[in-house]
Amino acid sequence: MQYSVKIRASAQSRKSCWVIGWYEDLEFSETAKDLDQATQGQLKKLIRRGDFKGKAGETLVLHDLTGASTERCMLLGLGKRSNLTADVYLKVVAGLTAASKQLPVTRMAISVDAMNLCDRDDAWLATKLVEGFADATYEYLAMKGKPKAKDGPTLSTVELIASKDRSKQLKQGITLGSALAVGKKTAKDLSNAPGNVCTPTYLADQAKTLAKGYERLTTTVLDEKQMAKLGMGAFLSVSKGSTEPGKMVIIQYKGAKPSVKPHVLVGKGITFDTGGISLKPGASMWEMIYDMCGAATVFGTLQTIAEIGPNMNVIGVLAAAENMPAGNASKPGDIVTTMSGQTVEILNTDAEGRLVLCDALTYIDKFNPETVVDVATLTGACIIALGSQASAIFANDDGVADALLAAGESTRDRAWRLPIWEAYQSQINSAFADMQNIGGREAGSITAACFLARFAKKYKWAHMDIAGTSFKWAGTKKGATGRPVALLTEYLLQQGR
Ligand code: BES
Ligand code: MN
Ligand code: ZN
Repeated sequence: MQYSVKIRASAQSRKSCWVIGWYEDLEFSETAKDLDQATQGQLKKLIRRGDFKGKAGETLVLHDLTGASTERCMLLGLGKRSNLTADVYLKVVAGLTAASKQLPVTRMAISVDAMNLCDRDDAWLATKLVEGFADATYEYLAMKGKPKAKDGPTLSTVELIASKDRSKQLKQGITLGSALAVGKKTAKDLSNAPGNVCTPTYLADQAKTLAKGYERLTTTVLDEKQMAKLGMGAFLSVSKGSTEPGKMVIIQYKGAKPSVKPHVLVGKGITFDTGGISLKPGASMWEMIYDMCGAATVFGTLQTIAEIGPNMNVIGVLAAAENMPAGNASKPGDIVTTMSGQTVEILNTDAEGRLVLCDALTYIDKFNPETVVDVATLTGACIIALGSQASAIFANDDGVADALLAAGESTRDRAWRLPIWEAYQSQINSAFADMQNIGGREAGSITAACFLARFAKKYKWAHMDIAGTSFKWAGTKKGATGRPVALLTEYLLQQGR
């Protein structure tokens, strides 16, 4: 999709549509007033009939208005003039993008004169528009046997029509939105790829290919032999039951001098989680193709950062393995030694995410990180606690937690903090090892985070549980969401400032 900012719409064609913002309560924006005059009051008449109320996200497409310069005009409801908040605007964008999919048009000109958000600037407005179109038109088609037959023209050009003074911010917003669209699409594609395609080796290969496309990115991959040398006994206890070898994938973005400390992102990359010997029930086991959404998020965020090109250093680490039951798989009761030297009693092989992550968290200390954020579909309990609205945040540093929360609020890729108080730590004390990998029924997401905290003592760290936010397991929009790429990108850009 091509985006541009124009003072006046370019020459229109049969395949174009002009979008005009409209407030609730019959209030006319400047553009609407102009159009109403040009059409000799036709709009006013239509509105009085009550077919269109101007509720946020409501749309009405009008054809062949006499006096209008385009064949098609779309009235786009903006809600109450005094209340065009970020959240209302997101509803507006959702309505617009959904309606645009139904139209046989290739071009859209969107008048933004009526769109002044009370709590966000024009850059944000444009970013969310671009993200919105990308999200609404996304489909995962790679596994369809036949290419989808085209049923008419599809949208390829969007013009924002705005006064000159708004153009700079709108353009900035388009640039960020386009970078996010690229990274989120990659994250979704990787996440939606089934387990027989998206293996740890596949993730590693994709990361190598990614680095070839961006000068500032380099990818290195640790294989199981190298990980064994480093003493990653916890990671290897997960991957050993699978015929797919585990990989630790390191993607480095170098945008500043080597002396500038990097921000490090670590992603859980379980390409399929059967539960291992503690086998999951069959009914919804397929959902565990999404158990690498953390890795996909890190991958997509690094790509977005590479697209933007800020002057900072970022490192993304994907802890990629498959969790299978097998003759040589780990068993409940096994005790393994982590890279940190601490020992872990594996009481449930289905609590495998923390086992691959703990060694990754120890490994990345060598980068002398400024901050570390790990992202993981870690616990079903997180879905029970927060549902699909907010990702959970746990942190050993208030500054990092607050920065992530703020990034979530501003992007509306939201998160909520939960505690990792010392008092919870006793739930994962073990009789025979330094700790056990499960903490009982109570506070499952918190005890998982407490486990990770034991490996993240040397730096400022946060853990994000994205089990509820990174994919939808049912409904029309079933599949990966690309969250929290927007949150993490915003967080990193703020840190790099
Ligand atoms: N990958 C799962 C968590 C999960 C469940 C993510 C559903 C997304 C949707 C994780 O590896 C897991 O199995 N966790 C267990 C932990 C338990 C054994 C302590 C869980 O949540 O039941
Ligand atoms: Mn599991
Ligand atoms: Zn898992």
